[in-house]
Amino acid sequence: MRAWLKTHRHAAGIRHALEWTQGAYSLVRRLAARDDRPALDGGWPVRLIGMPPPRPFTRPERSALRRAARAQSTSFFDGEAVRTFEARLADRFGCRHALAVSSGTAALHTALMAARVGPDDEVIVPAMTYVATAMAVMQQGAVPRFVDADPGTWNIDPERIEEAISPRTRAIIPVHIAGVPCDMEAIGAIADRHDLSVIEDAAHAHGSTWRGRALGTVGHLGCFSFGSPKSITTGEGGAVLTDDSELFARARIAMNLGETAPEGGSPMEHAFFNPQTRLDYTMVGWNYRMSTLQAALGIGQLDRFDRIRSVRARNGAFLHDRLGALDGLAVQRVCDDASPCYYTFPFLLEEDCPLDRALLLQGLAREKVDVRLWSNLPLAAYEVFGRDGEFPVAQRLCENSVGLRVDPAVGSAELADMVTAIRRLLEWGRGREPVRA
Ligand SMILES: Cc1ncc(COP(=O)(O)O)c(C=O)c1O
Repeated sequence: MRAWLKTHRHAAGIRHALEWTQGAYSLVRRLAARDDRPALDGGWPVRLIGMPPPRPFTRPERSALRRAARAQSTSFFDGEAVRTFEARLADRFGCRHALAVSSGTAALHTALMAARVGPDDEVIVPAMTYVATAMAVMQQGAVPRFVDADPGTWNIDPERIEEAISPRTRAIIPVHIAGVPCDMEAIGAIADRHDLSVIEDAAHAHGSTWRGRALGTVGHLGCFSFGSPKSITTGEGGAVLTDDSELFARARIAMNLGETAPEGGSPMEHAFFNPQTRLDYTMVGWNYRMSTLQAALGIGQLDRFDRIRSVRARNGAFLHDRLGALDGLAVQRVCDDASPCYYTFPFLLEEDCPLDRALLLQGLAREKVDVRLWSNLPLAAYEVFGRDGEFPVAQRLCENSVGLRVDPAVGSAELADMVTAIRRLLEWGRGREPVRA
């Protein structure tokens, strides 16, 4: 206990010392710097010390993880914690059923299996998203049909969806990029007209709402990722949400190797442990089970999700206002009836931006501001997807956007530093046009 207290105090002491040093440096920089040159051009960097690293797990979560490991359960996937986590997820996001799985990709694949998407069926996916969205479609033997992005929201362009629909189309997967909602009204109307399932990829959108409803609960099925940089994380992990009991029952079977109890559903009560259980395997399924260790972390994350949500939403709103007001940059358009909880905050370098992305990234690294990049290409450009089609909007967004951190370790000082660094670089670039890396 004493050793733990000592280590803990030591770590907290180091953190405070770093924060204090950075605060003192910022003051001196403001008083002493004669000009506003960026560090790239010999000025004082906005930060002396790098940004504080993300700290996704607090003490109660770490203790819960230790307790779960100490329980020495022989049944990591079948433990109470997984069921509790599922019940808490359903309750927090306002839907009837939640199914915990091993990753966001597993959640998408499970949702596709539940929706009976099969070999040679087609599924509409956005051209700009993480590879997992389309890869899950391929895992099911189906064909992703890509649709370009809307230049305002960066999400799938609803105006272009119908031209990609064929008699083989079975589902649409809208992705709420960075936590900004897709136009779910337009997508829902298209799905109704063509009798398609809507599977929301809400991997970036925990806690974002649209017309007062949690994203991930608007379509027939919704999928979350709990991978490490996400707003709720269990290290790796994911979940499928739905209000539809039939889809839920099928999803539960699909994510547990097709295992089915006579009374229907998957009991998660293995014949290894209970000789009375008569199992059958009724469909091809996969092992996508979540462990009790992950669930213990997830329950802790949900306990403080209101706080996580409000910090991310507030940090994102700050960057949205400040960066959206700078000439040469654009941010995602958010519709009036939406409240985004950002996963990361992306912005776009427009054509009139005086710097290109490579130079901006170099400049931000010198200012010690963290960035996160998106894929450099629309998905359709990758070999595995057959390098199929042209997606000019997605291409421009992929090539010219930059993501900033909004996680709870980022405070108001770091946000102000990000904006100062970007503004300085833009002004400097404008004075020296044209500037390219
Ligand atoms: C849009 C999107 N969908 C799906 C996934 C897949 O999630 P996971 O990494 O948990 O498999 C990710 C992961 O970052 C993602 O960004």
